[in-house]
Amino acid sequence: MLTIDEARGQVTLAQPDGGEAVYPMDSPQAFEAVSKAWLRCGWDVKYVYGFTWMGRPIIQLPEDMIRIQEVIWRLAPDVVIETGVAHGGSLVFYAGLLAVLGKGRVIGVDVEIRPHNRAAIESHPMADRITLVEGSSVADSTIDAVRAMIKPGETVLVILDSNHTRDHVAGELGLYGPLVSPGSYLVACDGIMAQVAGAPRSQPDWAWNNPITAVEAFLVDNKDFVLEEPGFAFNEGSVRERVTYWPKSFLRRRGGHDA
Ligand SMILES: C[S@@+](CC[C@H](N)C(=O)[O-])C[C@H]1O[C@@H](n2cnc3c(N)ncnc32)[C@H](O)[C@@H]1O
Repeated sequence: MLTIDEARGQVTLAQPDGGEAVYPMDSPQAFEAVSKAWLRCGWDVKYVYGFTWMGRPIIQLPEDMIRIQEVIWRLAPDVVIETGVAHGGSLVFYAGLLAVLGKGRVIGVDVEIRPHNRAAIESHPMADRITLVEGSSVADSTIDAVRAMIKPGETVLVILDSNHTRDHVAGELGLYGPLVSPGSYLVACDGIMAQVAGAPRSQPDWAWNNPITAVEAFLVDNKDFVLEEPGFAFNEGSVRERVTYWPKSFLRRRGGHDA
């Protein structure tokens, strides 16, 4: 249980041993506890279903978009592959960053791209940088089509944001992992599911049926990947952890400039 006492400027957090810890509000521990509660509350009220990017709905926590922006700026990828397009907001976000970088393109994969979404994406100012592939992300025809769009030596970043069940993410990690270039990332989104299991908008099996369990299993057999936080590009504050719906999600492929 969390108690916030703004008048006293302190946060009290129940501990697993039955005791409680009291943190001043100007501590990273208080920030982490309040953020965790905020993430859970945000999940319940569908906070992330309230944003657009350059006119397209984007179903993401803004914090995660700022962090992935830091990664894209540093990496300057030639290709960003995203599974899970929905309304196209995240595709447009990544394409916009690449446009500013003056290089790169985005490949968006979705099992169903609704005609109005396709029309809006294909007529968007960022459309020249976006290719849509319709089909299940784990279908042979889909992965073959995506693979054919990548040239040898290109820097490739992969973001998995489609179906977040353990088995589906496991399938995606196995298929898209080999496309990730050394030093780049394979990002398995929405590990927050494990954290919000039991909440109103969750399923009873989310405690284990989530992207993090897929990531953990993948790492056992794929030693060329390591679970690694991308790190803050700038930090003059005392917070060291991301506020995120993507915990334990960044898998860096060993090698490249960051080896
Ligand atoms: C969370 S939404 C994607 C949100 C989007 N990335 C954004 O930021 O706005 C998930 C999408 O995954 C798609 N999806 C579900 N199962 C899929 C599958 N097997 N293969 C590809 N896409 C799938 C759904 O159709 C849906 O559009």
